[in-house]
Amino acid sequence: MKFQAPRGTYDILPEDQAYWRFVTEMTRQVCELYGYERIDVPVFEQTGLFERGVGETTDIVEKEMYTFRDRSDERMTLRPEFTAGICRAYAERKLHGRPQPLRLYTIGPAFRYERPQAGRYRQFYQVDVEVLGSQDPAIDLEVMQVAWQIYEAVGIKGLSFQVNSTGCPACRPGYIATLKAWYEQHLDGICDDCRRRYGENPLRLLDCKRESCGKIAEGAPRIAKSLCGACNDHFVQLRSYLDALGRPYEVNHRMVRGLDYYTKTVFEVWAEGIGAQNAVCGGGRYDGLIGMVGGPETPAIGFASGIERIILTMKQEGIEPPEVPKPAVFVAYLGAEAKDAAVVLAQELRSAGVGAAALWEDRSLKAQMKQADRIGAAYTLIIGEEEVKNGVVMVRRMADSTQTALPRWEVLDAVKGGGTA
Ligand code: HAM
Repeated sequence: MKFQAPRGTYDILPEDQAYWRFVTEMTRQVCELYGYERIDVPVFEQTGLFERGVGETTDIVEKEMYTFRDRSDERMTLRPEFTAGICRAYAERKLHGRPQPLRLYTIGPAFRYERPQAGRYRQFYQVDVEVLGSQDPAIDLEVMQVAWQIYEAVGIKGLSFQVNSTGCPACRPGYIATLKAWYEQHLDGICDDCRRRYGENPLRLLDCKRESCGKIAEGAPRIAKSLCGACNDHFVQLRSYLDALGRPYEVNHRMVRGLDYYTKTVFEVWAEGIGAQNAVCGGGRYDGLIGMVGGPETPAIGFASGIERIILTMKQEGIEPPEVPKPAVFVAYLGAEAKDAAVVLAQELRSAGVGAAALWEDRSLKAQMKQADRIGAAYTLIIGEEEVKNGVVMVRRMADSTQTALPRWEVLDAVKGGGTA
């Protein structure tokens, strides 16, 4: 019987871990720099949370959720994103009772039944950042800056922001009516999906990926003209902050995002050259979501960034992460008595915080030295019968191949601080 990883999933093999370690570590550092606290929410939640939160007519809810009935016959769904779960936690754990705004971040896997391709998977990892309890446009900017600084920290260049405002319950219905009226004359020219969107979710008409629909959408009335005073002021203020910081951005009136909870600001960060899946990050304001999932009405904003897409962009730009630290010391031995001494010595080193590796397969000295080279050890400690008899260890400094026989008790001091671990 042979098994395969499910379609759209992958293994992160040891040689790929340096990227993951670097991206998650830089994310942690940047989030802490801005005062964001880590939260972790369950990998699965009640299905209704996403149906309600993400929106019944979104692609995610209609086509992409991994939903199952558990053994108590309750409908559960593997999280397709984090925002709904974090809002559920905010309401359920009464996080609104804490000093506001609450700045949170998390990192973990999410699941969507999508058509896999480069940068698009069925299990993928997101860095997710949320600020709950503020409607100040300076917070919108702060959240966007967190994303930007994470990319800067991992060395990615050549990014730009796409921004738009999707309005609020006061002004959006008016815009949707205008949009629908305009599209009435274009129904023949749009795809079947768009005709369905026309009835179910007209804003999504604007971001259809088909070229012919895109051309039509270019001519559609723009939401900017329909924004109410409050939404317009908010958007103007955010753009003036972006200008002040000199961040490259484009107002993209066709960007409405694929989740229904957005209000006012929406944004994405695009990277050149990673193909059709060029959004390394997407986010926006969702001032109504917490109220919708049982909490007090609370304004909030956040973003999520696919770690695979960050790594893809890094590779595209030739950015190499720092190496994962390896043991500083390799312990080699020859003979049964020497092996006993080597087992004890290796353990003493590790207990003292010095990384130590060994083969333990009673291999030739040549094979052991080769392994020491392979792991890039700073020192190889060699114990043979002679060394055991004399209570010494042969300390070989790999950088210059010098060898010194040291008394057993001096070995730890000699190798301390000699390597990367
Ligand atoms: P989203 O645009 O659906 O937004 O996803 C955010 C990011 O996750 C995308 O820009 C992309 O980098 C990555 N991503 C999404 N789907 C996949 C996939 N199938 N494979 C690989 N990467 C993927 C959200 O998820 C919102 N919850 C973001 C948010 C947070 N809005 C407010 N707060």
